[in-house]
Amino acid sequence: MSSAQQTSTDSDTESTDYGDFEFIVVSNRLPVDRVTDDDGSSSWRRSPGGLVTALAPVMAKADGAWVGWHGAPDETLDSFDEANMRLVPVPLSGEEVELYYEGFSNATLWPLYHDVIASPEFHRTWWDSYRRVNERFAQATAAVASKGATVWVQDYQLQLVPKLLREARPDLRIGFFNHIPFPPLEIYAQLPWRRQVIEGLLGADLIGFQRPSDASNFLRCVRRFKGHTIKAQQVHVTSENGEFAYVSRAEAFPISIDASAIAALAQREDIIERSREIRRELGNPQHILLGVDRLDYTKGIGHRLKAYGELLEDGDITVEDAALIQVASPSRERVEQYRLLREDIEGSVGRINGTYDTMKNTAIRYLHHSYPVEEMVALYLAADVMLVTALRDGMNLVAKEYVAARTENRGALVLSEFAGAADTLRQAILVNPHDIDGLKAAIVKALTMPRAETMRRMRIMRRQVLQNDVERWSKAFLDALHDGGRGES
Ligand code: G6P
Repeated sequence: MSSAQQTSTDSDTESTDYGDFEFIVVSNRLPVDRVTDDDGSSSWRRSPGGLVTALAPVMAKADGAWVGWHGAPDETLDSFDEANMRLVPVPLSGEEVELYYEGFSNATLWPLYHDVIASPEFHRTWWDSYRRVNERFAQATAAVASKGATVWVQDYQLQLVPKLLREARPDLRIGFFNHIPFPPLEIYAQLPWRRQVIEGLLGADLIGFQRPSDASNFLRCVRRFKGHTIKAQQVHVTSENGEFAYVSRAEAFPISIDASAIAALAQREDIIERSREIRRELGNPQHILLGVDRLDYTKGIGHRLKAYGELLEDGDITVEDAALIQVASPSRERVEQYRLLREDIEGSVGRINGTYDTMKNTAIRYLHHSYPVEEMVALYLAADVMLVTALRDGMNLVAKEYVAARTENRGALVLSEFAGAADTLRQAILVNPHDIDGLKAAIVKALTMPRAETMRRMRIMRRQVLQNDVERWSKAFLDALHDGGRGES
């Protein structure tokens, strides 16, 4: 690769051991799920999800490897090949799962980066574990990267990896993408390790964010806590002694979905039939509303239920006319805030259903499961109205999936302005989910909007999503990573 550089001046005795892979993705989780077959033997299956779909062709073309945790504690696995890529498992002990993953990643960074909707906890033991695990990910990556390889680090669990990698392997070209929001300076400032995290990220040549506002939040923090010169979106990173070292760029690259795959599923006869069956099973109500979320406090499920409960109380909606399906997939169940949230949400669902259900009809069909993509698409097809009421969300891919699945251009999307998707899906019915009256009005508007108007809006949104799919996103990022040059002095 063009950025390959000699790490030693003596070309015969290079000090670095290079690996075999030209393109490496690094993420907390490997993109595979372990499946146990009938005979008890286990194998791996590629997990559903846009990122792996987008990167699979890049992986197959370059010599690609994916470095990540395979999801089980206290288990060390050898590297293996699956779906045209080398998978490199990074082991985590039970204690590290508790301190690095559940602790620092999901009870410190996650709430801090999502506008402190829940209170972040700051513990030095969690930070120590985060640092150590990030070091292990960086080492595993450095060991497999060929000379001058491209490495793409994903998300908030691994923010220290770019700097660690740059130090170990200055020949690499390093990208980082933050899938979640980057908070405003006034919130980020709470983090006791705010300088170290910024230094970690600045190890990347290119730092990608979901929204332009995330990139500008980050750049403000860089200016405040590191004092580097910033021109446009370029940070002039200096070394310890204050000399210019290299340029790191921060830009927005809004992520997307494999839109044509979702659209193709939405046209499959068996999936269309399943969507009809779902409607029948609910008693063929006039309206079906749908919410699909990980059971996470950032998703605003409670606000949605409150609005829905009040609409039932006011008589604007009846259980004979409308049903809300709420899929809440289990998530991070050992983290306290998530346990409390589950109790809260299930309490609300129970109260609303207890009050309004009849023998025949239910107000809310609550499903604490995750489903295969085929069933999700059947649900999208069955739903007249999709409710995305996140209090803060990096992007929200469910909103884009719903749009991609509506091949007949029908259906209405109620979308929180606090989700990254609101930047591009401007024809959605945009809401501030904290404003319960506004949310109720938006739901009524979605239920009563003339068909011609819903179709006009959906057509524009579908064009947007189908054109800007996840493949285009990854290409845009990787092109920018390569076009930018290393900017070294
Ligand atoms: C968000 C994060 C991902 C994470 C996913 C599921 O989308 O941005 O990095 O993988 O949630 O969360 P989990 O903790 O189960 O990996």
